[in-house]
Formats: sequence, C-alpha cells, structure tokens
Amino acid sequence: MSSLNIVILAAGKGTRMYSDKPKVLHALAGKSLVGRVLECAQTLAPQQIIVIYGHGGEAVPAALNNMGAEFALQEPQLGTGHAVQQAMPLLNDDSQTLVLYGDVPLIQHSTLHQMRQAGAGLTLLTVNMDNPTGYGRIVRNAQGEVTAIIEQKDATEDQLLIREVNTGILLAPTRDLRRWLAALRTDNAQGEYYLTDIVGMAVADGIAVHTTQPGFDWEVHGVNSKSQLAVLERTWQQVEAQRLLAHGVTLADPARLDVRGTLVCGRDVEIDVGCIFEGAVNLGSNVQIGAYCIIKNATIAEGTQVAPYSHIDSSTVGADCRIGPYARIRPGSTLEADVHVGNFVEIKNSAIDKGSKANHLSYIGDTSIGRRVNIGAGTITCNYDGANKFRTIIEDDVFIGSDTQLVAPVTIAKGSTIGAGSTITRNTPEGELTLSRSKQMTISGWTRPVKKSK
Ligand code: UD1
Ligand code: CA
Repeated sequence: MSSLNIVILAAGKGTRMYSDKPKVLHALAGKSLVGRVLECAQTLAPQQIIVIYGHGGEAVPAALNNMGAEFALQEPQLGTGHAVQQAMPLLNDDSQTLVLYGDVPLIQHSTLHQMRQAGAGLTLLTVNMDNPTGYGRIVRNAQGEVTAIIEQKDATEDQLLIREVNTGILLAPTRDLRRWLAALRTDNAQGEYYLTDIVGMAVADGIAVHTTQPGFDWEVHGVNSKSQLAVLERTWQQVEAQRLLAHGVTLADPARLDVRGTLVCGRDVEIDVGCIFEGAVNLGSNVQIGAYCIIKNATIAEGTQVAPYSHIDSSTVGADCRIGPYARIRPGSTLEADVHVGNFVEIKNSAIDKGSKANHLSYIGDTSIGRRVNIGAGTITCNYDGANKFRTIIEDDVFIGSDTQLVAPVTIAKGSTIGAGSTITRNTPEGELTLSRSKQMTISGWTRPVKKSK
C-alpha cells in the first residue's frame, strides 16, 4: 500500500452551536471532537496529518499541540474543496490522501482500514439514510457505477429521492486529487468549491470510484448543534457500556454510566449507577464501585470496594481496601492493601501502608502512614503554615486518638499512642502514650446563665 496522508477539515464556524468556542473543540466523552478524529487518524500510522483550521483562529492548533499534526490555515472558508486545497503544498504526490472531518468524531479505525482495502482509485464512504435531507447524493449509472455526488441544493427532484449519501470521508490518490482540486469551480447553488465535484472528474478521467460503508452508522454522524452533540455522547456511552458488558462487567444500569477516557476492568467487576470514569482507569477483578462515584486516572486493585459518592483522583488503591462512602482521595495518594478510608475523609499526596484505617472525618495531607495504624475520627494533619507544606510521618502500629492535630513536620514513632484531643507539635517517642490537653476539672455549684428580664 502506498503511504498515507490524512487531512482533517476543521475550519468551519459551527454557528448552530451558539458558542464562542470553535465547534471542533467541544468535548465528546471528555475529549475534543477533533482530538478524537486526530487520535483515530494516528492509528493508521500515516506519513502526516494536516488539520485545516480557520474559525476560532489559533485555538484549534493550540488545543492539538504536541499531538503530531501539522496545521494549515483556511481563510476565508470557500468550501470543502478549498479546504483540502490548503493542505496540498504539504503533501507528496506518491501517496494516498484521506479526508476526515473534525466534527465527525466517532469514525473508527476499522472503517478507515476497510476504505484502504477498496482498491486503486477514489474511494467514498457512503451510507443509506431514511431521511437524506441536507446530504450530497451518490448518483449511479445503470451499471451501478458512481458517476457523481450532487449536493442537496443542486439536486433534481429525482436525485433528491436517492437515499445513498456522501459522508464526506474519502480517499484519493494525491497526484490526481491535486489536479482535480485545481480544476474546481464555484458555479453551483452555494458558490463554493465543492470537494464532491472531484467524483465527476475521476469518472471523466476513467479512474475507478469505489464505495464502502462504515461498520456503524454513528461513526459518520456529524455534530452541528448541542442537541446532536448530546445524542452522539449518549450513543458513545452506550457503545462503551456494551463493550464493558461484553467483557463480563456488571453494570447496574448501562444507561447511567459515563466513561470519559479508558476504563479497563478485570473479571467480575460491578459498577452501580451514576459513576463517571475519567482519563485512564483500571479496576482489578472483583472490584465494586458504588453509586455516584467519580474516578479519574486511578488504579484500583482486586477485591476493593468503593462505597457511594466517593472521589478518587490520580491515585493508586491496593487490593481489598474499603473506601467511602463519601471519601475523597486526591492526587498523589497511594493506598496499599487492606486500607480503610471512611466517610468525609480527605487524603492528599499521602502513602498509607497495609491494614491502616482512617474511618471518619479526617484530613490526611502530605503524610506517610505505616502499617496497622488507626487514625481516630476528626484527626487533621496540619501540613501548611500559610507559605510552605510539610510532611507528617506516622510509623507502624500507631494509634491516633480522635480530634487530634498533628502539626507538620512531625514524626509519630512506632507504636505510639496519641491521646484524644491532642495538638502534637513535636516528635513522639516509640511505644509511649503522648497527649497534650488541659486536665479535666469540675466547678461545683456553677449555674448556667439565665435570660435577663427586660
Ligand atoms: C458536505 C458534503 C456533502 C456531505 C456532507 C456530510 C461537500 C460539498 N458536501 O456537505 O456531500 O453529504 O458534507 O456531512 O463537500 N469545512 C471547512 N472549510 C470550508 C467548508 C467546510 O473546513 O470552507 C469543514 C466544515 O467545518 C465541516 C466540513 O468541512 O466540518 C463539512 O462542511 P459543511 O459545510 O458542513 O458541508 P456540508 O454542506 O454539510
Ligand atoms: Ca455538515
């Protein structure tokens, strides 16, 4: 197969989005529309990818920075043919050029791969639609060969009845494409340079025109409005849910799951309703995720249970842990096996070793906790003096009484016990009870104040 160039059209305005953001930068399942197309393009290992941008100025190249594409500005936007023309100076003739659309976000590798197998010549990706209104129609002769694409606004009554439509995605020999694009004219209903006019030119040149169809219709659905974006988002979430179900994951309701990235699951994983998975998330076998959890860029090892309404962000959780309900594990945290983190416990940039527990109402920040430690309810690590952050070290087998403040930097040595209600500012000795609180006293005969009569 000859080498491949990919041109992604992304210069359009997206008037019907009613947004200041360029249309192609709106997100579907957590990634920009054009970002998705670019990622799919990369899976074909092309020689180069050129993104045609225009509306929204440098926002599009800025958003796609470092993703391996080159950019060509189309200003003004004079049609799809004119858009592809902007890429031609960057393309070499001995290649194939694949045209993709930045607002058709769910195109899949398998469909594009199949287009490349169609044979020498021009290959169009087409679909049959019950309601083809608005699309270019695929016109065929008596032998069933494609002779032209006619746009809605240029079509005759008979042509309007054709249900096979142009998705816009096509693959052409670059040398021929260059010649055809140079010959485009604007004598049509919209006064634009139509990319679709190259089909008639290919036929006139005696070059074969092939058609292939996408694996799924949703692959070629475009986004022109927030409504279409919302529909396509749901379509994609259903695809994700079906993929997980097919791998044996139990979903309490496939319609109430959002995967905004990559979710990889082991065997017998169970996910309750309303969960959001962002970035790269890996769940080990027998992991259970309760309702309404938000889990982002995290690895959770086998057998761990995450109870409802918990957040886990950029952290690693070991095997057989109990997290939540209402736990918040913030970036940079590592929990080893058998750790328990209960309700209203916030953990940030901390390491907690095997078998340790913080079950109620605590803040653990910039802390290292050893094994079998018990953190009492309401314990706070005071890690910040207003200017700098400091670490708290809690060694193995420590017991921290409830409502304790540990003022960092401080080390609680192995086996220490801290009495409830203490403010600990200095390191504690191994194995001893340390506490800091005033002695309890009783003032006998004291009476409560009473309201003064007016
Ligand atoms: C195009 C096709 C039509 C096809 C339909 C599928 C042409 C002439 N028509 O029509 O056959 O059925 O797509 O959706 O190609 N764009 C630019 N620069 C431009 C013009 C467009 O980058 O100057 C981009 C747009 O941002 C958009 C895409 O190209 O992503 C398609 O443009 P649009 O104007 O929507 O084409 P259609 O009229 O829908
Ligand atoms: Ca369109």
